[in-house]
Amino acid sequence: MISLPDFPWDSLAEYKATASAHPGGLVDLSVGTPVDPVPRSIQDALASVSEIPGYPTTHGTPALREAAVEALRRRHGIEGVSADAVLPTIGSKELVAWLPRLLGFGQGDLVVIPEVAYPTYEVGVLLAGASLLRADSLVALGPQKPAMIWLNSPSNPTGRVLGVEHLRKVVSWAQERGVIVVSDECYLSLGWESEPVSLLHPSVHGGRLDGLLAVHSLSKSANLASYRAGFVTGDPALVARLLEVRKHAGMIVPRPVQEAMVAALTDDAALTEQRGRYERRRVVLRKALQDSGFRVDHSEAGLYLWSTRDEDAWKTISWLAERGIIAAPGTFYGPTGRDHVRIALTATDERIAAAAERLTS
Ligand SMILES: Cc1ncc(COP(=O)(O)O)c(C=O)c1O
Repeated sequence: MISLPDFPWDSLAEYKATASAHPGGLVDLSVGTPVDPVPRSIQDALASVSEIPGYPTTHGTPALREAAVEALRRRHGIEGVSADAVLPTIGSKELVAWLPRLLGFGQGDLVVIPEVAYPTYEVGVLLAGASLLRADSLVALGPQKPAMIWLNSPSNPTGRVLGVEHLRKVVSWAQERGVIVVSDECYLSLGWESEPVSLLHPSVHGGRLDGLLAVHSLSKSANLASYRAGFVTGDPALVARLLEVRKHAGMIVPRPVQEAMVAALTDDAALTEQRGRYERRRVVLRKALQDSGFRVDHSEAGLYLWSTRDEDAWKTISWLAERGIIAAPGTFYGPTGRDHVRIALTATDERIAAAAERLTS
């Protein structure tokens, strides 16, 4: 049996119980799960093909792949990605968890993940039997040559955005050495104080896609976490390899979800509306945190406020729980997260207002 880390959320149970006893009810800002409705256009698209009985294709419908390419161009200025090099995934978490294995990495291969990171990168390395290094810079690698490097910009949990210069440096270093770079871009549409740039933007790679992959999710940008909808794209040769394995392994996005993805990738008005909601919640919550003595670090994009009172994260979690609020301790994301808590913007306007009121009164 592969040994995996304990599921960290279980350790919040006691604080959740305390917070739930608050007379105004629990404000749960610990997980980044969408709370706003799935846009009508997407629901209709899902239902429109519900009578189709046959197996869906692993590669996705041509319409889905075209819609992805178009959305990447329109929303993120990405040119030069071919529709053949788009591969739908059952949400992005499964891909993150299996990618090192699907690419054939294992014992003796080194996978680099961000210093403070979404926990599933580590799970993916363990499932592959590869070795892990947490590092945010190439310098930290020393003479080691990794098999692959994970980037995550905007970051979960810190909201940090990697600039074009940083991305360019990593790409040219990796392409010179034949190292694969994979960028998890599930928060790319949610830039607030800076405009996040994709690994696949021409300004980053100058037209050379070899060894580059970007992972996209519709969970956050289209409120589609329940549908499980994402895709991976980039280097056509790598995507072809992934397609081959995923065909054999039955890793197929259901046909109605493929149709829903087309709508999600086309409906820019729904994305703008959702962005507006998060933007407003962010302003309210950030001000309340700052007014009550927190410092908010990074957080220039994404769905979280990476916040600290310059004390152990669990002390902050306890302080918040007494006010009926639950957040995630930074230690869930790596040892250097120990003085921060991650506060999500994914709650209704009413719950965000309640949190702000409790923080400042
Ligand atoms: C950085 C990052 N990657 C991937 C995921 C997985 O998202 P999904 O499986 O819903 O696409 C999440 C979810 O929170 C995340 O924060």
